Amino acid sequence: MTDAKQLGGAFARIQRDMPPIAGVVHAAGCTDDSSIVSMTEAQVSSVCRTKMEGLCNLQQAVEHLSLDFLVLCSSATWFLGSHGQANYGAANAFVEAMAQAWRRQGIPATVINFGPWDEVGIIARAGADVAGRLVDRGFAPMMPHRAVAALEDLLRRDVTSAAVMDFAAEKWLAGVRVKDRSCFFEDVMPETDAPDSATADESSNVVDLLGSSDDPVKAMEGFLVEQLRRCLRLPASRAPDPVVPMRRLGLDSLMALELSLRIEEAIDQPVAAGVLLEDGMSVSRLAVNLSELRATSYEPRAVGL
Ligand SMILES: NC(=O)c1ccc[n+]([C@@H]2O[C@H](COP(=O)([O-])OP(=O)(O)OC[C@H]3O[C@@H](n4cnc5c(N)ncnc54)[C@H](OP(=O)(O)O)[C@@H]3O)[C@@H](O)[C@H]2O)c1
Repeated sequence: MTDAKQLGGAFARIQRDMPPIAGVVHAAGCTDDSSIVSMTEAQVSSVCRTKMEGLCNLQQAVEHLSLDFLVLCSSATWFLGSHGQANYGAANAFVEAMAQAWRRQGIPATVINFGPWDEVGIIARAGADVAGRLVDRGFAPMMPHRAVAALEDLLRRDVTSAAVMDFAAEKWLAGVRVKDRSCFFEDVMPETDAPDSATADESSNVVDLLGSSDDPVKAMEGFLVEQLRRCLRLPASRAPDPVVPMRRLGLDSLMALELSLRIEEAIDQPVAAGVLLEDGMSVSRLAVNLSELRATSYEPRAVGL
């Protein structure tokens, strides 16, 4: 897809040796996740090129054809937001824009923003852990036949853009800070105002609690245990052990990012996600570090920077 000459050659061979091309499905894609601060140029380039450059090349290959359909596979992550996937999100936002532009030019493009698929593809190959985490976040992997049925339906109805996913919005929103939420939810779930005020209340309660407690380290530890439990998607009855290093409890880089954001949002104290993943970094140790910082400085300072 990223080699215009090769792609043009393939189309030329098909047109020479086969019946007329009635439709094209662009399903090429790849991911290379990382938090945005540590994402390299190569990671951005490899993920974006397949879709961005690929579609530009595809335009040249199909613009003189009379197609019945041109299907573009995209992902729901670009309008929902997904930790560690800024590159993939940008690439898929481009796919959406391209579909809209092609429609205006009379090319029958249909972009489908899929949620995760079961059994085949990128997510299925990533294994049960990743799939389980997606389920916790509101995405149940779809069986391929359901996704294909949705594709047929969208083509029959000549739709330009649609999202096809098995999605529990409440679960998703529970894991995303209010200010990070996609404006998409303002249209589909206007009632999400309620969690906004709950989060603000929660945050001021934490600051009050830490300020007034006789044992600020213990209070900080309690607050951190609860935030870690939410990031690990554990039920309320299973508080993580504060003395066990967070990595050993299953904290990965994306969860660490979420935890650092939760801490900063609640107590206005930046903590680098990498610090949370350091060897031996437990909730108890972090509670001591953060309490010392709060006691010695008025202005918030970044931990680990
Ligand atoms: N599976 C899901 O749950 C899911 C969810 C949302 C959206 N999507 C989208 O659906 C599409 C298909 O995903 P999938 O899960 O089927 O992925 P997949 O199994 O990894 O297949 C992707 C295909 O793209 C090809 N490819 C990558 N870069 C290419 C390039 N520059 N030129 C030509 N081919 C290239 C790969 O070829 P090689 O094998 O040769 O590398 C591979 O065959 C992707 O666009 C993805 O973004 C998938």
